[in-house]
Amino acid sequence: MLKLTRRGLSRAFLASSVLSAAGLMMPAVSSAQQGTDVTFHKDIEPILQRACQTCHRDGGVAPMSLVTYDEVVPFAGLIEYRTGLRDRAGAMPPWYAEKEVGIQHYKQDPSLSDEELAAISAWARGGVPKGDVADAPEPLNFDDAAGWSAGQPDLIVRTEDITVEGQAPDWWGNIPSIPTGLEEDRYVKSVEIREVNDLDLEAVGDTVGGRNIVHHMIWSTQVQDENGQATERPVSWPVHEIARNPDIFDEDAGRLLRAGSAIVSDSVHLHATGVDTTGHLEIGFRFHPKGYEPKYQPAIIGLGNGVDISIAGNEDNQELHAYAVLDQPTKIVTFEPHLHAPGERMCLEASWGYTVETLSCVGYDHNWVRGYAFEADHQPLLPKGTVLHIVGYMNNTDTNPNVPDSRNWQGSGNRSVTNMFIDLGMRVAMSEDEFFQEMADRRRNLNLGPNDHVIGCPLCLAPLVAPVELTEEDKEEMSDAKIDYLTIKDEEKEIMPHMAVAGSEGE
Ligand code: HEC
Repeated sequence: MLKLTRRGLSRAFLASSVLSAAGLMMPAVSSAQQGTDVTFHKDIEPILQRACQTCHRDGGVAPMSLVTYDEVVPFAGLIEYRTGLRDRAGAMPPWYAEKEVGIQHYKQDPSLSDEELAAISAWARGGVPKGDVADAPEPLNFDDAAGWSAGQPDLIVRTEDITVEGQAPDWWGNIPSIPTGLEEDRYVKSVEIREVNDLDLEAVGDTVGGRNIVHHMIWSTQVQDENGQATERPVSWPVHEIARNPDIFDEDAGRLLRAGSAIVSDSVHLHATGVDTTGHLEIGFRFHPKGYEPKYQPAIIGLGNGVDISIAGNEDNQELHAYAVLDQPTKIVTFEPHLHAPGERMCLEASWGYTVETLSCVGYDHNWVRGYAFEADHQPLLPKGTVLHIVGYMNNTDTNPNVPDSRNWQGSGNRSVTNMFIDLGMRVAMSEDEFFQEMADRRRNLNLGPNDHVIGCPLCLAPLVAPVELTEEDKEEMSDAKIDYLTIKDEEKEIMPHMAVAGSEGE
């Protein structure tokens, strides 16, 4: 309990909500309250299995295990508090997509529903009933694969061990290149990086940064000759940062890992943990089946501002804005806010003609770097000419525990004490025909009618809203993909209100 109180208090004082802080102190008293029919085995254990135990288990990255009843009970109040933060810094699980605005379909979304949050709260305040073990789900099997949240990799490459002395200053530099040992070209589905170090995780600090020595690694892979010189253009990969979730590439945009390539980095940032620590990274690649060929290439879009950020001291809710115009049809695969300590939230907006839509807003906690991959049928499909707009919300006050001294003005720069403002998300470029085809598929996969609305696809419904009849002459001049997009199929007609299809009914 002492542990709970110490940690709980420090977090609680930082919290802006006095109510939640009060909630934190409840369980001791609440066991006296009348019971609830929410029980550990029936209601709470399934939530912990789905959303928490990948990290909160023996050998996991989190400070305590949340597997057995006895392990969970002392943390009931703190669990209620941290899960109740929902999408703000400090929330558990560490996932900050806002549920009130934007697209709600993400890959590997561990977030809790309102019902689950209510169950946790009722359980924590209702005397933490254990319930009947017969109601418990099968316990999870934590083999080594459990440490890889995107699934067991097909290839794991291990970097060399590095030792960082307890009080060493920060260090940036290059590491020796590491051969992947891959003997044939393979396309990569996802990449996930984890740090393995010799820290006694029970003894170290509570922050993710305090539990890891490698704070970032900007890296690429390259095929090298015997002197270690690149023989062809390197392939770059998403930057590794502490507490980053896996990067899942678009199904149709697997990234090529060439046979005989090596991992190369000239920008590793090391940070001391307070005690001498030795560790390395494991880079886990999952492959597409042999013979896979990608359909799309990454779209190169710079969306951010790294030059003239200006954040005043002692001020909350300061906004930063950046824009980019799409010069070809584009599919947005992931949204990934990259801010530094004062960053509290970022929104991504798309404007096309009169359609101005928020695609996603997510909270930000500089302790936890998260990328948000949209589910396949919910990836924004944006026409050429769309303006992408990101808005960053900065909190440079004492209510933001990540800011060391809120009196300071903050500007741009690479160091952790300076600032960045970028959407590092992945996007793929499409031809006009691929774009038409994706929109037609989307419309049919989601069974959309003219009165539906789909966020992030301003032209998906255009042929339903204003149907056109194509003559044979029209069709001669069009690609198959465009004809398909403009043609309303019989199944689609069934979901159309009578009025909207009047023109094309008689065929
Ligand atoms: C991706 C890994 C991960 C997942 C998933 C995760 N946690 Fe955590 N959790 C951590 C880490 C690491 C910390 C310590 C750093 C921090 O507080 O940010 C932590 C801290 C906590 C704390 C505070 C502990 C203390 O002593 O201050 C609580 C409570 C907690 N988690 C509960 C949960 C619950 C409940 C879930 C699921 C609903 C969950 N966590 C999901 C990794 C995770």
